[in-house]
Formats: sequence, structure tokens, C-alpha cells
Amino acid sequence: MLGFGLVTTLFVGCALFAPVGKAQLSSTSSAITCDCGFRDENNNVWTNVWFSDYQQSEGNVYHDATAMDLKRDKNYLVMDYTMKRDNYNYTRIFSKNNVNLSPQSAQLIVRSNSDGDMTSASFGTERNDFLYGTFRASIKMPSVPGTVAAFYYYESDTAEIDMETLGRYTDPRQSFFAIHPQIYNDDGTASNLTHVKHPLDFDPTTEFNEYRFDWVPDSVGFYLNGQLASTLDTNIPSTPGRVILNHWTDSNPKFSGVAPMDQDILMEVANMTFFFNSTQDATGPPCQSNRNACDVKDITSRRLLPFDKSPPASSSSSSIVAYTSLSSIPFILTILPILLSSL
Ligand SMILES: *[C@@H]1O[C@H](CO)[C@@H](O)[C@H](O)[C@H]1NC(C)=O
Ligand SMILES: *[C@@H]1O[C@H](CO)[C@@H](O)[C@H](O)[C@H]1NC(C)=O
Ligand SMILES: *[C@@H]1O[C@H](CO)[C@@H](O)[C@H](O)[C@H]1NC(C)=O
Ligand SMILES: *[C@@H]1O[C@H](CO)[C@@H](O)[C@H](O)[C@H]1NC(C)=O
Repeated sequence: MLGFGLVTTLFVGCALFAPVGKAQLSSTSSAITCDCGFRDENNNVWTNVWFSDYQQSEGNVYHDATAMDLKRDKNYLVMDYTMKRDNYNYTRIFSKNNVNLSPQSAQLIVRSNSDGDMTSASFGTERNDFLYGTFRASIKMPSVPGTVAAFYYYESDTAEIDMETLGRYTDPRQSFFAIHPQIYNDDGTASNLTHVKHPLDFDPTTEFNEYRFDWVPDSVGFYLNGQLASTLDTNIPSTPGRVILNHWTDSNPKFSGVAPMDQDILMEVANMTFFFNSTQDATGPPCQSNRNACDVKDITSRRLLPFDKSPPASSSSSSIVAYTSLSSIPFILTILPILLSSL
């Protein structure tokens, strides 16, 4: 109760409340315009937000999973290509048909095709102007060994920030954190300056867990469920790029491992929330409606949810919540009904 009261006071003090004219919204909800950026847990302020929720939940007016199709959503790039490298016997086949939306998640599926080849899945943001920020995804990792599941920033092979989970490491389970270009030791192994193998103290395959990287000019912090797991500060990228998720195998026993052919292997993503700066920001946030940055926790804890001013006109467009550019989009204060009903 005290917590809600404090939070509400904060909003009353700094936010613009506007009447909400949408019938589907609770009449006690109010809109707040976060046009003064977003302050993260480390006190960094970011101009933009990306919020996408792939889960259909009861009572959530923003979602209609059956109408969603990432392939038809202009905010996304769903990959469809084959990666064959010289002097490397293993091929990665990314098929757009391996990206699927279920009511619980966006699914990235590894499976064999009718030719007996293994196929993989990948999708990313269409925009490629992310330049620093805090990037979070709630992911349930595949429970079958033989694949790599990754959440990463990518500009090129020499500007990349990776969080990768290899299913063949089970004892202990671990995630790899990496910066490209990578540095190698004299013996050819990856230097720990740019590559960390981090043992996990949870089973990543049974629940959704939050994978997060905070990219600032001189370091990248890697977080698991909000806890800092590792920080790297060598070869930090300084070029804008996109954010990608992929789930793949190329059957190389020395890296991805060999995945079974007789089943669909799933990596599942519940949601992604990024607070970031963009190369499109001419200046900082306008701070006209709101004098203070919104707190990222108010978005990640869903006290504030983006309010879609322009719902899709037809079922051919997606109704996934994806706020991809402006910090001036209104958010709906969702705790007000709770507060009022408990007074
Ligand atoms: C690729 O496969 C061929 C034929 O099996 C083999 O002779 C060759 O050594 C392999 N090359 C590499 C780089 O693994
Ligand atoms: C990183 O590797 C160096 C040697 O290459 C080693 O001395 C150092 O202890 C390692 N650091 C960590 C954190 O593992
Ligand atoms: C992001 O943009 C904000 C607002 O302009 C600025 O204060 C902050 O320094 C930027 N952060 C980085 C890492 O560039
Ligand atoms: C993302 O999904 C997870 C798993 O369902 C959930 O616990 C978390 O609250 C969600 N985050 C946001 C910002 O919606």
C-alpha cells in the first residue's frame, strides 16, 4: 500500500494526466507522457523506449495474439537466408517459417525440413539505429541440447554484443557473454577480455528469465534477472545497430552441437523492453509534458504500459505492442485502479 502511494505521488508530482477516451480502457486509468526520457537503475537516461509483449494475457487490451504475425510487421525483420562459409563444412539455414507466435511467446524453432536439413530461426528489429542503451528480453531457453539461443546487438561481425546460451552445456548450465571483435589468447582460445562463460544458478529451460545487456560507451554490463553477472570493457562497439534474437544449429559438434531431428526445438520470447538512444535523436528528449524522466521500473514492472493511439485497422497489421521510436508516446498508469480499490 505504501509502495503504491509513493509511486502515485511521484506521478502526480511530475506527470501530465490526460483524459483517456478509449472505451476499452478502465475509466480510472490516466495517460502519462514520458517525453523526458527514461532513467535506468544505473542512473543513465535514455531518450527512447521499445516495448513489445508477445504474450496474450487475459484482460490485457493490447494483445490479440491470433492477429499477430512478425513477418507482416514492419517493425521486424524475419530472417530467411542460408549461411555457408568457405572452409567450414557446416551450414546454417534460417527459415522465416521457423518464427511463430503462440499465445505464450514468440517462438524461434529449430527443426529438420523435408530434405533432412536442420533449419533455424532468427528475427530482429527493422530499425538499426540503436546506439547505447539497456536491452532486455524475457526468454525461455530450449530444453534440448544441440542449439544456440542468442539475444544480441549487431552492426557487423566486428561490432556485436552477444548473450548466447548453448544447450549442450548442462553441468553447469551457462550463458556466454561476448563482444566482437573478439580477442584470442596465444593458444587460440577466446580471451576473457571479450568472452565470458557464465555459469547459471537457475535452469534457463523451465521458466522465462530476463537477459539484459547495458551498453554504454566504455563498457557492457550483462545482467540475469536484474543481477549484474559480468562487465566487459574491451572493444566496446560505438556504431549504431539492430537487436536480433536467433536460435540455430549447424550440427557442428564443437559449437552448437547436434540437435535431434525428430522434434521442434523451441526458444521462446515473452517480451522485449529496450531503453536507448538513437542516431535519429537530434537533441535530447523534449521534456515538455513531463519535467522528469520516467523510471524504467515503472515500465518493466508494468505500472506504466504504452497506450496505443492508433490501433491496427485490419488484421493484416500486427497488434503486438511495439513502441519503437518516440519518447512522447503516452503510457497508461495502471496502478491507479488498484490504489483506488484498496483505499
Ligand atoms: C569438411 O568435410 C570434408 C569431407 O568430409 C573433410 O575432408 C574436410 O576435412 C572437412 N573440413 C573441415 C574444415 O572440417
Ligand atoms: C582472464 O585470463 C587471464 C589469463 O589469460 C587470467 O590470468 C585471469 O585470471 C582471467 N580472469 C578471469 C576473471 O577469469
Ligand atoms: C543518451 O541521451 C541522453 C539524452 O540526450 C543523454 O543525456 C545521454 O548522455 C545519452 N547517453 C549516451 C550513453 O550517449
Ligand atoms: C515479460 O515476461 C515475463 C514472463 O512472462 C514476465 O514475468 C515479465 O513481467 C514481462 N515483462 C514485461 C515488461 O512485461
